[in-house]
Amino acid sequence: STRPRVLSGIQPTADSFHLGNYLGAIRQWVPFQDSHDAFYMVVDLHAITVPQDPKQLRERTRISAAELLAAGLDADRCTLFVQSHVPEHAQLAWVMNCMTGFGEAARMTQFKDKSAKQGTDRTTVGLFTYPVLQVADILLYQADAVPVGEDQRQHVELTRDIAQRFNSTFGETFTVPKPFIVKETAKIVDLQDPTIKMSKSASTPKGIVNLLDDPKTSAKKIRSAVTDTGTEVRFDEVEKPGVSNLLTIHSALSGTSIAALEERFAGRGYGDLKKEVAEVLVEFVTPFQQRVRGYLDDPAELDAVLARGADKARAVASRTLAETYDRVGF
Ligand code: ADP
Ligand code: NA
Repeated sequence: STRPRVLSGIQPTADSFHLGNYLGAIRQWVPFQDSHDAFYMVVDLHAITVPQDPKQLRERTRISAAELLAAGLDADRCTLFVQSHVPEHAQLAWVMNCMTGFGEAARMTQFKDKSAKQGTDRTTVGLFTYPVLQVADILLYQADAVPVGEDQRQHVELTRDIAQRFNSTFGETFTVPKPFIVKETAKIVDLQDPTIKMSKSASTPKGIVNLLDDPKTSAKKIRSAVTDTGTEVRFDEVEKPGVSNLLTIHSALSGTSIAALEERFAGRGYGDLKKEVAEVLVEFVTPFQQRVRGYLDDPAELDAVLARGADKARAVASRTLAETYDRVGF
C-alpha cells in the first residue's frame, strides 16, 4: 500500500473501555481505515507493567478486541492484533532500550506520575521502560503518524528522537513518525467531578461510563451528572465544564453540532439536556453491546481474526527487526 501508515494501541482494561477511551481515542481510529494503512493493537505487554491476574488479562484482551471490532474497526480494512502475538515487539524493545539514555527515560512525566503514586518498591523496571516498548511498537511498523491523546505527545517525541539517533548511528532504518494529536473536543470529563478527566484510575463509579455497563445504570449516571448553579445550556468549558461535557457527549454520539444543540436547548433546563443525552447514550451502547456479545459468542472466529491480524503484523514487523538486527551487528 502507498497510503501513509498509522499505528495506535490501547491497553486491555479492567471493566471495558469507558466513554472517554471511545470518544477520545478508539472512535478516531475508525476513519483512518479508509485513508491510511492502519495498524491497531491491544497492548497486553504494556498491561503487565502493573500486577495482573493471568485469567483476567486473557479475558480482557479478548473483550477489548471485541469492543474494537464493535466500535467499527474492520479486520479486513486494518491490521488488528494483540501485541504479545507478535514477539518482535519485545525483541526490538531490547535494542531500543540500548539506544535510550537512562536520564532521557527518567524524564518521562507519565512514569514520574505513576511511580510517585506507587512508590519505588512497587514500581517495576517494566513501567520505567514502558515508553521504550512504545518506541519499538511504533518503529516496528515504520508508522508515519501516531494518533494519540495529548498525554502521549512526550512518548511520540521520544520515538522521534530515538529513530533519528538510530538512523544517524547505523544508517537509515526507521521512518520518523509524527504525532497526530486528536482534537481537544474529544476530551471527556468525569460526570461527578468535571475538573478531572473521566479515567479508570481517578474516577469514582458514578463519574465514569463504561461501554459495557448496564445501559439503565449509565443513563442514571448521566441524569445525575454534576453541572453548575446556572440555568443556561451553553458550551463553556471554563464556566460550565459539566454542561459542556454533556454537550460534547451528545454531539459526538448523535452527530448534531454543539451550536445546533445550544439552539435546541435554548430556554430549556439542564434536566432536559441530561434526559436527552441519556437517551442518545442508550441508543449507542445498546447495539454496541449486542455487537460485542456477537464477537464473544464466537470465540473460534475471534481467535481466527486475531491470528490473521498477527500474521499481517508479523509480515511487516519481522522485516523491520531483521534489518535492525543486521544494522546493529547481529
Ligand atoms: P485512563 O485514563 O482511563 O487510564 P488510558 O490512559 O488507558 O485511560 O487511555 C487510553 C486512551 O484513551 C488514550 O488514547 C487516551 O488519550 C484516551 N482517553 C482516556 N481518557 C480519556 C478521556 N477522559 N477523554 C478523552 N480521551 C481519553
Ligand atoms: Na491512564
